[in-house]
Amino acid sequence: MNNTEKLDLTKITIEQFDHDNLAEDFWEKYHLFNEKSHRELYPDDSLPNREVAEISILEGWPNYYVFRDIVYKDSSKKEIIAYSFFAINREDSPSYEDNKQNSFIYILVDSRYRRQGLGSLLFEAIIKKVKEKGCKFTETDTFYDSGRTFCKRFGGKLINEHTENRLHMEEINWELINEWRNKGKEKAPMVILENYLIVPEKDIIEICELETILESQMPTLDGQDKWTDVYTPERKREIERMRQKQGYINYTIISREYNGTISGMTEVRYSRTDRPERIHQGLTGVLEEYRGRGLGKWLKAEMLIYIENHIPDARFIVTGNADHNAPMNSINERLGFKPYYYESSFKFRLTTAIKRMNKMT
Ligand SMILES: CC(C)(COP(=O)(O)OP(=O)(O)OC[C@H]1O[C@@H](n2cnc3c(N)ncnc32)[C@H](O)[C@@H]1OP(=O)(O)O)[C@@H](O)C(=O)NCCC(=O)NCCS
Repeated sequence: MNNTEKLDLTKITIEQFDHDNLAEDFWEKYHLFNEKSHRELYPDDSLPNREVAEISILEGWPNYYVFRDIVYKDSSKKEIIAYSFFAINREDSPSYEDNKQNSFIYILVDSRYRRQGLGSLLFEAIIKKVKEKGCKFTETDTFYDSGRTFCKRFGGKLINEHTENRLHMEEINWELINEWRNKGKEKAPMVILENYLIVPEKDIIEICELETILESQMPTLDGQDKWTDVYTPERKREIERMRQKQGYINYTIISREYNGTISGMTEVRYSRTDRPERIHQGLTGVLEEYRGRGLGKWLKAEMLIYIENHIPDARFIVTGNADHNAPMNSINERLGFKPYYYESSFKFRLTTAIKRMNKMT
């Protein structure tokens, strides 16, 4: 990405985001920055709904402490040109024990002001803060080549590669979908599919266990460096409340075995106000002992039929898959999902990043 404007790093103003003390015109400036960045990545998509974007900033990370820095071009604070943020698990989070030494960071610089040292400046500040919080590691994800080079420069280890895949509704092969649905019923005749928008109270403990197991089985590049996500009923309800606030509808289909066990699931998320053409495919998975009977394909087929019949605004489905997740990729490829973006995840050991930073100064 080429710079188009010279930046004077001595003039920038960095402020910690404080939702209790926001200037009246803060959101307008934030949306201009956010929408410009969104257009850079997704030039053909509609823009995020502003109200939803605000709710996401204010409460988008349940169970985490989140710290954000907002960067203005100068002291007049007319224009936001970058932000950085980091998140660490709260002590009362069910994932705290497994992840307490880890954290998540992200830095985004307006494309006009890249390659002038701002990203490095923000990285340095963030790494110091994360260390102060007692973390030894931090992770980040990036869709950008600039981000990949940037992470490698600071000693980031590539831990995962994902592809954002998209399937356009008009490209769905309905014959295949019907075949998968029929074969699923044939091979697992005693299994029934159920659906819900809010997890039924009677199943919530089992669903949380299922999601925790399935998430833990998501492959990483070397089988290590997993960010463990633990679901508990309280956490699940908190996520549901947050999605409802954002106006998102979460629709899930589960498979139930003859003995009552929930053996698999698939979920989607969509909104009638925030880019309604976009359906976000969430977690899909089948417990190990119930695999090999076409349940994964049946669940996915049933979900596409639901989308076709119930979400008239749907134009495409977006899913993020690890590149080495062979079973899921095989299902998605046959469904016609096509790669749209490549995303890389990096993990930094803070001591290594600090050594690299010291060498540069
Ligand atoms: C990654 C990002 C934050 C870097 O911000 P920046 O202000 O351009 O960073 P810097 O100017 O401090 O660059 C530091 C180094 O990163 C590397 N780098 C950054 N962008 C690069 C590019 N487009 N091509 C090659 N190297 C690049 C270079 O080594 C550069 O040092 P150099 O200019 O002395 O060669 C910015 O490109 C961005 O916002 N990208 C999109 C979001 C993202 O991917 N974030 C990364 C996850 S934290």
